[in-house]
Parts: sequence; C-alpha cells; structure tokens
Amino acid sequence: MSVSPPLRELISNCALPANEVRILLAHILEKHYQLPRSALLSRDDMSLNGQAFLEWERLVSRRVLGEPIAYILGKKGFHNIELEVAPGVLIPRPETELLVEIALTEIAKLNKHARVLDLGTGSGAIALSIASAAPLASLIATDQSTGALAIAKKNAQSLNLLDQVQFLIGSWYAALTEPSQFDVIVSNPPYIANQDPHLNQGDLCFEPVSALTDYGSGLSCLEIIIAGADQYLKPGGLITVEHGFDQSEAVMGLMKVAGFINVQAHLDLAGHHRAASGRKRL
Ligand SMILES: C[S@@+](CC[C@H](N)C(=O)[O-])C[C@H]1O[C@@H](n2cnc3c(N)ncnc32)[C@H](O)[C@@H]1O
Repeated sequence: MSVSPPLRELISNCALPANEVRILLAHILEKHYQLPRSALLSRDDMSLNGQAFLEWERLVSRRVLGEPIAYILGKKGFHNIELEVAPGVLIPRPETELLVEIALTEIAKLNKHARVLDLGTGSGAIALSIASAAPLASLIATDQSTGALAIAKKNAQSLNLLDQVQFLIGSWYAALTEPSQFDVIVSNPPYIANQDPHLNQGDLCFEPVSALTDYGSGLSCLEIIIAGADQYLKPGGLITVEHGFDQSEAVMGLMKVAGFINVQAHLDLAGHHRAASGRKRL
C-alpha cells in the first residue's frame, strides 16, 4: 500500500470544505498515530501510511456522498458530554442544549433530588447531559425506538450514568411502567411537517425519519406530550419542549389550553424561538 502525499497537500487538494477536511484528518491522526489535532499544522509535512491513507480516502468518499460527519466519526459533542451516534439516532443539535439549560436552571432552584422525564431520548443527549451536570437528579428517558435506546444505554454506560438514568421503551407516556410524577418533563420530539422539503436535504436524508417528522402537521407529537403532561408533573412542576422556529405561538397556545401557567418562549443562540416552557399550578 502506498503512502500518501504530505498532510498539507491532502488538505489543499481535497474536494471538501477546509473545516471538514481538518475534522476528518484530525480523526485519522488521532486514531492511527495518537496525534492531537495540532499535528495538522506542526506535522504538515508528514505522510499517512497505507492503512491510514486508505481510511482517509474512504472517509472523504462517504462525506462527498453527503453522509453527516457525526455518523462518519461515530460521535458528537453535546453540552458537556460526548455521545456515540449511529444512523439509528438523531444527531444531537447545538440548539437542543437550550432545553438542557432550562431544565438545569429549574433543578438548581429545587435544591433537592429532582425527578426528570426525557421523552424521545434518541442518543440520550438531553437526559445524559442533565444527569452529568446534576448528579443528584434521577431521570427516566424513553423512546419508542429499540435502536435508539440501545445507543442511549451504551452512552449512559460509557459516561457512568446508568445508576442515574432509567431507560424505558414505549410511545410517550405509555412507556412509564408505574404511576410517576416528575419535577421536570423535557422533550425534543419530531416536529417537522411531513411535506417539509428539508426532510430530503442535507444531513436529514441520513437520519431516522421517525425522529424528524410526526408524519403530519409537525405539531401532533407536541400536542400529545403537552396535553398529557399535567398527569405526570408534580404541582408546580415544569414542562419544556423544543419546537420548530415557526411553531412558538402554536406550542405556547397548546400549553395555555392544557392549563399551564408562566408559559414562556425561549430563544436559541441563533435568535429563534426554539423552546417553550410552562408550569403546572401548585
Ligand atoms: C428529534 S429526536 C430527539 C432525540 C434526542 N432527544 C435529541 O434531542 O437529540 C425525537 C426522538 O423521539 C423519538 N420518538 C418518535 N416518536 C415517538 C413516540 N411516539 N414515543 C416515544 N419516542 C418517540 C424518536 O425515536 C427520536 O429518538
């Protein structure tokens, strides 16, 4: 197997955007040579051996075909943790960190062992970030996908959080095996309408459709979660959900109709209304 041209030529001759080339090449350097990302600059005259070069070419081909970088690398950073991801789960998005922050702010105010429910946990992103940042909280994380739950449990094990987070399978509240009430319910459900052209574009083409769309108007999962929350929240408990950038009014309306008070919209870092929260009356 032949060795590669020097790193600087691999970078400058690659068809991918420079930031993506650097991420993929840093992965190769770490995996095959245990070198840090800074070696892209400090060792830019080095060549890859045959095996590393072959893998580099495979990774580039996958990305050229549109596969998301997180699936190619098998991991994604989220909030304060790193998660394994694979095609069976949604790739956690930076905007979802907003839900984690809302939940953590609430947990900090409670000043006790908070009980938290994460509905539609996917890779475990929300539940595991909360568990990692709030060691006294106990969580239940649900999903209807066995594949997603398998990855979420693996992530909990790698992060040593299996004692704090219980994983249950089933559709929304039906996953709960015994009557329970929570201090916080958090959810990032599928909220893209089935006709939305984004479903056929970019990274979304590679992600599980059932994690992205409700196969309807976009609001049906949010409706079920919000309408059912009263029964599963303690008096004074908080529900917070992520939604599409144009669904804020509708979701806040659903919370008001369900009887929640202090209904609020929350802005993500891009300035979009991305989450809503409401409180059960005392
Ligand atoms: C948008 S993804 C969110 C994943 C993860 N919470 C995150 O923020 O990265 C929605 C998740 O809801 C799950 N889901 C879809 N329908 C569901 C249902 N009826 N009951 C429970 N989970 C469901 C999907 O399998 C998927 O994991």
